[in-house]
Amino acid sequence: MLSKADIERFKRENLPELYALLDPTKSSPQQILFVLENLGKLPPLFNGDLLLLVFQHAQNVTIRYWAIKNLAKLADYRYTPALLHIISTSQDSQVRREATSAIGRMRDERNIDCLLTLLQDSDPNVVLQAVRGLRVFVGDPHVDDALRSVANHPNETVRAVVQAASAKTPSRVPHPEFPTFLGNVAVLGDVLQVLPFVPDEAVHLTFTSPPYYNARDYSIYPSYQAYLEFLRRVFQAVQRITKEGRFCVINTSPVIVPRVSRAHSSKRYPIPFDLHGIMMQLGWEFIDDIVWVKPETSVKNRNGGFQQHRKPLGYKPNAVTEYLMVYRKQTDKLLDWNMRQYPADVVERSKVVGSFETSNVWQIDPTFDKVHSAVFPIELCQRVIQYYSYVGDLVFDPFAGSGTLGAAALDLSRNYFLTEQNPLYFERMKQRLSGQLFVKTQFLSLEAFQEKAQAHRQ
Ligand SMILES: C[S@@+](CC[C@H](N)C(=O)[O-])C[C@H]1O[C@@H](n2cnc3c(N)ncnc32)[C@H](O)[C@@H]1O
Repeated sequence: MLSKADIERFKRENLPELYALLDPTKSSPQQILFVLENLGKLPPLFNGDLLLLVFQHAQNVTIRYWAIKNLAKLADYRYTPALLHIISTSQDSQVRREATSAIGRMRDERNIDCLLTLLQDSDPNVVLQAVRGLRVFVGDPHVDDALRSVANHPNETVRAVVQAASAKTPSRVPHPEFPTFLGNVAVLGDVLQVLPFVPDEAVHLTFTSPPYYNARDYSIYPSYQAYLEFLRRVFQAVQRITKEGRFCVINTSPVIVPRVSRAHSSKRYPIPFDLHGIMMQLGWEFIDDIVWVKPETSVKNRNGGFQQHRKPLGYKPNAVTEYLMVYRKQTDKLLDWNMRQYPADVVERSKVVGSFETSNVWQIDPTFDKVHSAVFPIELCQRVIQYYSYVGDLVFDPFAGSGTLGAAALDLSRNYFLTEQNPLYFERMKQRLSGQLFVKTQFLSLEAFQEKAQAHRQ
């Protein structure tokens, strides 16, 4: 007689044996159902194709339901087409609901369109699951519009769920705390694939320097518009994961993309000014602009031509400044409210002692790194962290590069969460952040992080 303990053991030690128990050509429907009901958390390398096979062979609707329920645990985008096929061909409401929930659980923005389509389904159970799946993407104008339209759905439960979702519920997590699985973690992956797995209102401060459009070789976008759209999606997600009334500081500067030939001129892109409009549209509150000034000798000399010919219009100043644009997540609460959330000893330990930067012009030398071509000076990170976060907070850099923000956070007794998609820079980050005596960074692949996040939700 097969027991739950056997299943647990097979999961750990003998996956082929487990697969055999699920094989519709070898195992009885009763046995398959018992296994499906007792599978629990799936092992990392579990083959979901087998669950689809079980689904296809089963006559019994309960087995079909449990096959999809288990497939959902994998949260694997590869199964979206199969799940959509099941939704469109199956008659059973429970199965269709579970398949919709499985798509939502992936938290993958490539599924937004199909979830939007499922909002039109005639079965309210399917619509409810599509609403749940889309809630992670609130802030996306298409998603917001669609959810607004469902607020008038003929089904009373759908209406109630959508209305409850749009009512602002205060966070249940105390303001100084954050989900522990994010603390001192660095993820190798595309930030847009990581953030859907980060809970709402998780970080206290974001400080980042986004890629410089196509001016450096580490990222290439098809157009400036596509680049701005990418940043819009990132800072929309950052807004969701930011705690009420907390800050997001973005370091940018206009960039020059070199000319293609002598017959063309180089093109200058006003990134900070375009990004500011996007941040306003997203609903961030503008707080300050800080100008970071570098010594003129450290920047590229553009004076050469003008120095010679002195003809008006040909003047090109050396660009010695970058911006730090400071935004706050919108709230009706004053900053005092944020400060009052911390115990007195944390406030005391977080106080900025000694001299501080009194103006919005900060003179700091740039830093050059042997691996990464555009790193933060650590002093810049130290100032931002000290001025805009408290001891014990979680600070986030979506474009972490060599991990400078993490290094500064460590020095200042803050926790950090970093994402970086380039393996070369991730290695550099490992070199910089490993070897700490008291704080151990977890360097995770995207898959390992997603698994941790799923475990946190269970
Ligand atoms: C300006 S650099 C940041 C450097 C960082 N401040 C430091 O001190 O090392 C921007 C970084 O964003 C990374 N990046 C670009 N697109 C990304 C994406 N979609 N997800 C995660 N990282 C990305 C690039 O690989 C690059 O390392």
